[in-house]
Amino acid sequence: MDKIRINGGRLLQGSIKVSGAKNAALPLLAATLLTPGTHTLHNVPDLRDTRTMLMLLQTLGATWERSGGSVQINTTDLTGAEAPYDLVKTMRASVLVLGPLLTRTGRARVSLPGGCAIGARPINFHLRGFEQLGAVTHLESGYVEARVEGMLTGNTIYFDIPSVTGTENVLMASVKASGTTLIRNAAKEPEVGNLIDMLTAMGARIEGRDTDCLTVTGVTSLQATEATIIPDRIEAGTYAIAVGATGGELEITDCDPSHLPVLMEKLRVIGMTIEAKKNSIIASCPLNNQGHSCPLQAVDITTMPYPGFPTDLQAQFMALMIQCNGTSIIHETIFENRFMHVAELQRLGAKINIDGATAVVSGIARNKLIGAPMMATDLRASASLVIAGLSASGITEISRIYHLERGYENMVEKLRHVGAEIEQITD
Ligand code: EPZ
Repeated sequence: MDKIRINGGRLLQGSIKVSGAKNAALPLLAATLLTPGTHTLHNVPDLRDTRTMLMLLQTLGATWERSGGSVQINTTDLTGAEAPYDLVKTMRASVLVLGPLLTRTGRARVSLPGGCAIGARPINFHLRGFEQLGAVTHLESGYVEARVEGMLTGNTIYFDIPSVTGTENVLMASVKASGTTLIRNAAKEPEVGNLIDMLTAMGARIEGRDTDCLTVTGVTSLQATEATIIPDRIEAGTYAIAVGATGGELEITDCDPSHLPVLMEKLRVIGMTIEAKKNSIIASCPLNNQGHSCPLQAVDITTMPYPGFPTDLQAQFMALMIQCNGTSIIHETIFENRFMHVAELQRLGAKINIDGATAVVSGIARNKLIGAPMMATDLRASASLVIAGLSASGITEISRIYHLERGYENMVEKLRHVGAEIEQITD
């Protein structure tokens, strides 16, 4: 089992290039199932999760080839419509093949993803949406099966919660449905917009991009296409938070600052200097006249659907708040169990109290955080532990870093390149 070993307490200085967004790459890879032909996706990050999705497409009969950041996927000869448990259990986003397979073949059988560390993660909104489009769904022996005789039929679909993959799955099931589909209370995340752009390039007719009401007019044919994955806003935000925790200055390049409006505002409020350029963010901490970074001020956050504060940055932001002056109230409204990083951060000396979906963080001086062994529990929690280890003094070792490899491309190399004393070791 690999670990990450950090000798903390060093400033970060330099430039970090952001990779393509995991949460855009996964739906866009699934969308290649919608129509036969060779699709080309650019800026596809090479992650554990994108490799799993490519393996899943291959299981369904597709062939693919990666050349640098571009991947060509040929989905002409699908041989199956079943996503097996051994793949789905490692990546819940495998459910994203349900919508395109329903559209392409009229049937899909996907292992129920089961819960994960951060919550139960049901898919009832996805299944209800398929049923409203005329499909029949049923669960048997841990698999969900969806079938439709003939065409799917357009309908008005309301989401109780603006589910990101729920919106993406129903979009992919509605693009060739007869008539018009309205998706109300749809998710507005940039990754949904990236999928809409790809579907439109394939010939789909979708109005309402970036709003909570999407109108899909069914078409009779779609063509294979070429699309580019948007930059990973969560990766960009992770590094902007990291330099707040360590002190220093980072130029975070190949990102889209407009995708992080609330985070940038929060980092300014705590006392960082955040400069947003067209495709990059310069994040820095003020230094006092002894050349040490000034202490930052604690601030409250509440996670919300886009464009609110992203739940995927909550754990990382907490790793910053533990060393700011004052108290920060962190309210997690999206997932029911997304404080797994708290117990680990407390091992470094952090003062955090949890009350249901709220964490109260009492900041302590950065030099009071002492490195210690920690264990990663989920993807974003592991990024939080890295940030805390970078700013704590002494040695931190983080185990179970396969969680981190699911969503961050070359994080160790990228951080070492800007001055972190960090390495991956085999335990
Ligand atoms: C997507 O997950 C992201 N994953 C998550 O990123 C992200 O945290 C989440 O959206 C919220 O922004 C991908 O895009 C692959 P939801 P998703 O459906 O779509 C409830 C990461 O770290 N819900 O928007 O699964 C659900 O339990 C990952 O990169 C239902 O009740 O999230 C949650 O409370 C973690 N029934 C809320 O809605 C459903 O059918 C929002 O979930 C679907 C969701």
